[in-house]
Amino acid sequence: MAFFSIDGERPVSGPAATLQAAMKRYHVTTFGCQMNAHDSERMKGMLESIGYREATRRADADLILFNTCSIRENADNRFLAHLGEAKRLKSERPDRVVGVGGCWAQSVKEEVFDRFPFVDVAFGPGQVHRLAEFLTSDSLTAQGYFEFEGFTGRLPSKREREFQGWVQISVGCNCVCSYCIVPSTRGREVSRPPGELIEEIERLAADGVREVTLLGQNVNSYGRDLPSPSRITFAQLLAMVDGVDGIDRIRYTSPHPKDMREDVIRAHAELSALCEHIHLPLQSGSSAVLKRMRRTYTRERYLERVALIREHVPDCALTTDIIVGFPGETEADFEQTLSAAEEIGYDGAFTFVFSPRRGTSAATLPDQISHRVKVERMQRLVEVVQRRGRERAERFVGRTIDVLIEGPSRTDPSRLRGRSRHNKVVNFVGLGSPGELVHVRINAATSQTLSGEESLLAGATD
Ligand code: SAH
Ligand code: SF4
Ligand code: F3S
Repeated sequence: MAFFSIDGERPVSGPAATLQAAMKRYHVTTFGCQMNAHDSERMKGMLESIGYREATRRADADLILFNTCSIRENADNRFLAHLGEAKRLKSERPDRVVGVGGCWAQSVKEEVFDRFPFVDVAFGPGQVHRLAEFLTSDSLTAQGYFEFEGFTGRLPSKREREFQGWVQISVGCNCVCSYCIVPSTRGREVSRPPGELIEEIERLAADGVREVTLLGQNVNSYGRDLPSPSRITFAQLLAMVDGVDGIDRIRYTSPHPKDMREDVIRAHAELSALCEHIHLPLQSGSSAVLKRMRRTYTRERYLERVALIREHVPDCALTTDIIVGFPGETEADFEQTLSAAEEIGYDGAFTFVFSPRRGTSAATLPDQISHRVKVERMQRLVEVVQRRGRERAERFVGRTIDVLIEGPSRTDPSRLRGRSRHNKVVNFVGLGSPGELVHVRINAATSQTLSGEESLLAGATD
């Protein structure tokens, strides 16, 4: 293989090539969810282990990678807008390598190369572990890799923050939500064995990680596919992670309401590291719509889960995902969603307008909702979500809470920014450094953030 000098003009070979290889630079752009964020960290870790360094700008990179998402149409569009720049950079310096990974790549497979002939390599989420192999293969032109191979190997990972780590406990999804592209882009659900997970978390803790977020499309079905000697439930896994020295905070995302059992809810009350926050995607407050979404729970069953959470962990923060404008959603259905949001009083919610996705059954359902109606419903929902979020946030005013410092505040660099156990962003005046857990007295709240002052004397009141 010929390596090019940094300015890209002269090919070099022999010992100089080895030296230049060590200088090759990559740039990764990540779209989508935490799974992709974590996959990108693993891609970066792998690239660094074979001698690449990170370029801060795409224009300075020899290897331009995109880790794509396809969950909604605007996710596709955002990525396609970036791809134009990669095309230009590639035409300026044809030795540059352009790679497209992630869920969008998986959903179109080889079609990537017909539509974008300047792309050298495309790969799905099931092939992340083979990236180094693709890059060093002899014929790096229009190659696609789209098999699902379970969890994609143990890779070094270049974490964005040294004190926070993602841990992927399972890959894929066995649900069949009628609007969702994920089962086709991430394959069937495969759980990783508990021993391997605990070992990984122990390594993270030894490396300075204090907060882990366990990732899976449906974390509560964790373990069901494991062979019996190592088969454990999600609640048992949580208890094992809680036992790892040095891990002060455990989070997870996402549980599915149909599988949210009392043992997991109780774990929030019983395990000291497990945070008081549950992200429980509602999607719709109408049982009729939930049925067409194939969510396999009803409004009543969901409300019952919420009641159980409130009973065992009264102060638990609850957040959710809601889709408006699902095909056939009537005004009465939508009002059921509004009233659920009102009644439950979420601490926060991600709200989405239904977006038809290729290959999903909801994309071709009759009675698609007009854009105008979707937008109007979205505005009404956002009003309820924000008002209830603000009211919920008020309960923290006057309390002193534990905050894990993440860095300077985004709006005012003289202040610090961190997160509470309830997953609230906290901006505050203080002296601590990133990665430290401090006590902050809260004096104001909005629907999105809390603000306060570091309390050097008192302990946290909760
Ligand atoms: N596995 C996770 C979520 C995956 S996607 C879970 O089930 O909770 C994140 C969110 O995107 C979903 O909860 C849903 O609210 C939203 N979403 C998925 N497909 C969508 C679509 N076609 N249109 C609009 N929103 C969608
Ligand atoms: Fe998609 Fe449903 Fe699976 Fe979540 S549970 S990833 S919404 S199919
Ligand atoms: Fe995540 Fe987007 Fe794929 S939300 S699982 S990266 S389609």
